[in-house]
Amino acid sequence: MATLSLLIALLSIGTVWSQTGKGTVPQIIEKNGRHALLVDGKPFLILGGQAHNSSAWPGMMPQVWTAIEAMHANTLEVPIYWEQIEPQQGKFDFSLVDTLLKQGREHKVHLVLLWFATWKNGSSHYMPEWMKREPSKYPNITGKNGQSVDSPSPHIIAAMEADAKAFKAVMAYLEKADQQHTVLMVQVQNEPGAWGSVRDYSAEAQKLFEGQVPEKLLKPEILKALNKPADAKGTWTEVFGKDADEYFHAWSVASYIGYVAAAGKAVNQLPLYVNAALRDPITNPSANTYESGGPTDNVIPIWKAAAPAIDLLAPDIYLSGSEKVIKVIELYSRLDNALFVPEIGSSEENTRYFYAVLTSGGIGFSPFGIDDNGQGETASETKARLASIAQEYAMAAPMMRELAKWSFEGKIKSVVEREDHAAQTIDLGSWQATVTFGAARRSAVQANAKPISKAMVVQLGEDEFLLIGTLCHFTFKPLGANAGKVWQYLKVEEGQYENGTFKLLRIRNGDETDWGGPRIGAVPVVLRTTLVVR
Ligand code: DGJ
Repeated sequence: MATLSLLIALLSIGTVWSQTGKGTVPQIIEKNGRHALLVDGKPFLILGGQAHNSSAWPGMMPQVWTAIEAMHANTLEVPIYWEQIEPQQGKFDFSLVDTLLKQGREHKVHLVLLWFATWKNGSSHYMPEWMKREPSKYPNITGKNGQSVDSPSPHIIAAMEADAKAFKAVMAYLEKADQQHTVLMVQVQNEPGAWGSVRDYSAEAQKLFEGQVPEKLLKPEILKALNKPADAKGTWTEVFGKDADEYFHAWSVASYIGYVAAAGKAVNQLPLYVNAALRDPITNPSANTYESGGPTDNVIPIWKAAAPAIDLLAPDIYLSGSEKVIKVIELYSRLDNALFVPEIGSSEENTRYFYAVLTSGGIGFSPFGIDDNGQGETASETKARLASIAQEYAMAAPMMRELAKWSFEGKIKSVVEREDHAAQTIDLGSWQATVTFGAARRSAVQANAKPISKAMVVQLGEDEFLLIGTLCHFTFKPLGANAGKVWQYLKVEEGQYENGTFKLLRIRNGDETDWGGPRIGAVPVVLRTTLVVR
């Protein structure tokens, strides 16, 4: 019954969503506080991989595709460079974009384009030569002691206009050249902000800093979200006290990028996002210890107010330790922000966060630096390096649309193995699952040396679940009215969704479900499992 009702629900939702039609612009929608990226009118999950910074050149792309294929990815995140696109002021060259579009289509892989422009990791190294040669027209910021800082000033109208003009040209080009929407989203800049100074202390910036905080930022809900009195007004220091320098820089950078983004949005409605070099999400560190001015978790409300043309702010996850990573995932999945992880290290430990992203309604996941970057790796070495994420994407790819829909509907719960390797529970209404981590052995769990396991439960019905994971073991107990009753597996079916239908590989029973419930080994499997109380 549960399966039938699921099918009916799928069909009816499909009808509503498909009204937007094939070929419509991808868009991000929100419902009940959860988000989906609609592609061809239906939720889509980005199984992504990001190329190295200098790999979007035609001679480098074969290695990128080797990596994408090895990963079973459906989306490539790849930079496009302002310096290459506008080598002379006002003269645009879209040949690299053309190559990416053509090759993406040949490989049946979507693209997320990364606009490396005014900011790339806090510096302006991708500004075209004609700008680099005029430092006084396009200056960097000045540090507190008057020192020059390798980071562009967000207060320079000429630079902002030049970036907006180039970005608009890119977006207008895509509007014409990509009517089939190979490109799903565009990242505007890359990790903007400044390293080495919390803000710009140039005379011009100082004048603005001593002026009044703009009205747009003085909304009670924004001030409250920033832990300031709801009726505060005055200068940056008066309103924001010790946070004034950072908040001023965040406002300035976000306003500049918001302007660039709006110029692009005016000609092409593709979703736009900005990625963040993170700060420690737990310790509230001082602003001079991380990249200041970018969309770090503490200034998300400032970015939302300053840059409404940006659809989402995305965390680049290079933190270690599950407590911090899970906290970041929580902080960037908000009512006003769809979660998307455009960069994360490609280690086996990091693969487990793919599950956590699905639980938080995330629209995609994308390890950074997938190609061999000119190291001369063989295809099988690339495959071995990417094996951990590859096996997850291989599992997820045939059921990508279902996973995206379940994630949007909040039906996916997951746990990732923590550093203490302790068992964890998942509440599922009438049932509670307990997940233990480690190699799947018949009589005893052999602990993992590193925390690499993860487990996901998709709630299909009251008693019907999909169990997915690696190196883990599930057991259940009934809750509520059935608490304490004897129960058993009605059926444990191992298989895979294909074209919206579950295809059975085998029914697990006997040794494969006795000895305390189904165990999953090093390769992820999908177990459609129904429980019954006796
Ligand atoms: C984060 C940046 O966004 C990427 O472009 C790249 O520079 C990596 N860091 C380097 O590991």
